[in-house]
Amino acid sequence: MSTPAPLPLRRGLGLLGLLGLVWGALLLAGCGAEPTREAEAGVVPPPPLEGVESAYAHAATRTLAPRAPEDHADLHHVYRLSPNIYSGAEPHGEAGLRRIAAYGVRTVISVDGKAPDAEAAARHGLRYVHIPIQYKGIRPDELLRLVKAFRELEGPFYLHCFHGVHRGPAAAAVGRLVLDGAAREQALAEMRQYCGTSGKYEGLYRVIASVPMPGPAETAAFEYDFPAVHRFGGFRQAMVGVSRHFDHLEALAGRDWAADPEHPDLNAEAEARQMAQAFAETLTCGDRLCTESGDHDPRFDGWLTQSHELSRLLAEDLRALARKEEGAAARASERFVAVRRLCNECHVQHRNE
Ligand code: HEC
Repeated sequence: MSTPAPLPLRRGLGLLGLLGLVWGALLLAGCGAEPTREAEAGVVPPPPLEGVESAYAHAATRTLAPRAPEDHADLHHVYRLSPNIYSGAEPHGEAGLRRIAAYGVRTVISVDGKAPDAEAAARHGLRYVHIPIQYKGIRPDELLRLVKAFRELEGPFYLHCFHGVHRGPAAAAVGRLVLDGAAREQALAEMRQYCGTSGKYEGLYRVIASVPMPGPAETAAFEYDFPAVHRFGGFRQAMVGVSRHFDHLEALAGRDWAADPEHPDLNAEAEARQMAQAFAETLTCGDRLCTESGDHDPRFDGWLTQSHELSRLLAEDLRALARKEEGAAARASERFVAVRRLCNECHVQHRNE
């Protein structure tokens, strides 16, 4: 319409404007209160930061007052980042789940490779969604799953990986952007200064600094029904097994291989054998060279074969130790360090960046 609006209509528009102001003021007044789904629906995630060279370095541009995590035997490294978002480690048993439920959380999202125990969680009124993400960053399909979950499932959300230090906090930071509309600098600072996400994982930081968050129309159109267990192929599954046994062995190595009274069921030799078995599985599955970059590194198979052999020898050392053979503990410790060196050598090339 090119002619000016007739007077009654203009007055009507003025009234609308006034109503808009009142409505805006009401919304502002509501800011400090617990968020509602209605309020969240309007959250516009901040645009990507421009010209960031190191996202990890950028995570130090805003300084947060130091904050210690909540730490319990059944639930470690917990940060309540907002009324909507908690970040922490994987819950241990019913007690861990009970604690998460007591925070008021409704949806738990696991972003590591291990299949979560959704049935146990359901007994505590919690819905589990399994959205494994990469250490080298969050792929576009993974990001869509995460953002859709934040937009469409019931919060508050508890995000976790194994230890709640790297991938879990990165996923939580996505929630901070899309549910809370937090500034990118703030979300980055929380990863680094609260959760302690390592600078080794620049790819995780980069997503929070520089990747545009999918909009509501995109997540609404994306077909995904939030499965409680994400099934993936051989190599990654086997690697999840490797890391479980490795974690147990690392804890025992730290006690000079003495039994752990808190976990009397842990047997070092059996753990080493199972780790060797898991490495054997990485060697037999067909998709093991399908790393993200798709390039074939000739060292890859060699590292896996060596890791398998070293794990097998570690089991032998630990058997000798059980028989109280002289020097067996020191041998086992050296062997363990050699295994760990290989994990790192390969991850630096193929997993972390
Ligand atoms: C020869 C290479 C190689 C070796 C050796 C290796 N890894 Fe990995 N690991 C990978 C790759 C590649 C991935 C990423 C797989 C993917 O995301 O598809 C990975 C993934 C992982 C993950 C993430 C699994 C998840 O939850 O998604 C963990 C944890 C892990 N490795 C632990 C270990 C440990 C512990 C060791 C040593 C005992 C080890 N790895 C040895 C290549 C290796």
